[in-house]
Amino acid sequence: MKAIVQDVYGSVEVLELREVDAPVPGDDDVLIRVRAAGVDQGVWHLMTGLPYLTRVVGYGLRKPKTRIRGRAVAGRVEAVGRNIVGFRTGDEVYGTCEGSFAEYACAKEGRLALKPKNLSFEQAAAVPISAVTALQALRNAGRIQAGQEVLVIGAAGGVGAYAVQLAKAFGAQVTGVCSTAKTDLVRSIGADHVIDYTHDDFADGSRQFDLIVDTAGNRPLTVLR
Ligand SMILES: NC(=O)c1ccc[n+]([C@@H]2O[C@H](COP(=O)([O-])OP(=O)(O)OC[C@H]3O[C@@H](n4cnc5c(N)ncnc54)[C@H](OP(=O)(O)O)[C@@H]3O)[C@@H](O)[C@H]2O)c1
Repeated sequence: MKAIVQDVYGSVEVLELREVDAPVPGDDDVLIRVRAAGVDQGVWHLMTGLPYLTRVVGYGLRKPKTRIRGRAVAGRVEAVGRNIVGFRTGDEVYGTCEGSFAEYACAKEGRLALKPKNLSFEQAAAVPISAVTALQALRNAGRIQAGQEVLVIGAAGGVGAYAVQLAKAFGAQVTGVCSTAKTDLVRSIGADHVIDYTHDDFADGSRQFDLIVDTAGNRPLTVLR
């Protein structure tokens, strides 16, 4: 099969389109014929091996352990391992796996869901990593409650745009922080208030929030507090 492969860490020139062996699904794997693959920030981290912590936590100290890039995937189930009960051949799925920049990829059952019919493969492949990151931030870490005031910093970004929409779906009042060109976009996805960080300081103390999701990460916690 064709795949985007890298042997060493580095910039985009380390990525090569090559012929490699297709993955063989084990008993607990779902083999997917990839139709679309998402590009999230993690792809850059794993391509470059930066920050160095990425290497230490198990992705390969000197070179990437997984040579095929891409983790967000949408496609059709090609085959299932014998322990798989939730999916069958032909199902349209989306989720995360190792090596989605390829014609075929293997995923664990718990990392996949059936693709909603109203999403294209391309739309579905953009969801798994960025949206789940936003969901984990709001629901798991932030324990969001209906009626809370939520501030999303980086509201037009990959994670932030999902955080705005999910926070609204949880019944929160949402304020999004973004640059001037993106204020209309952030309003259009449901933010109740928008702060343009190039003109206004969201941390000037004039407003308080129950929950802050900071995807830009350039303010110390003490300032946010
Ligand atoms: N994407 C993922 O799935 C994922 C998963 C885990 C962790 N992360 C981490 O989450 C962070 C954000 O990822 P992302 O994919 O959402 O990146 P992104 O799409 O580049 O979004 C980051 C946002 O930060 C905003 N920003 C830049 N400078 C700012 C400032 N001074 N004040 C307020 N906002 C500012 C930008 O807003 P403007 O465009 O309006 O300037 C941009 O939209 C990264 O550190 C990434 O490593 C991402």
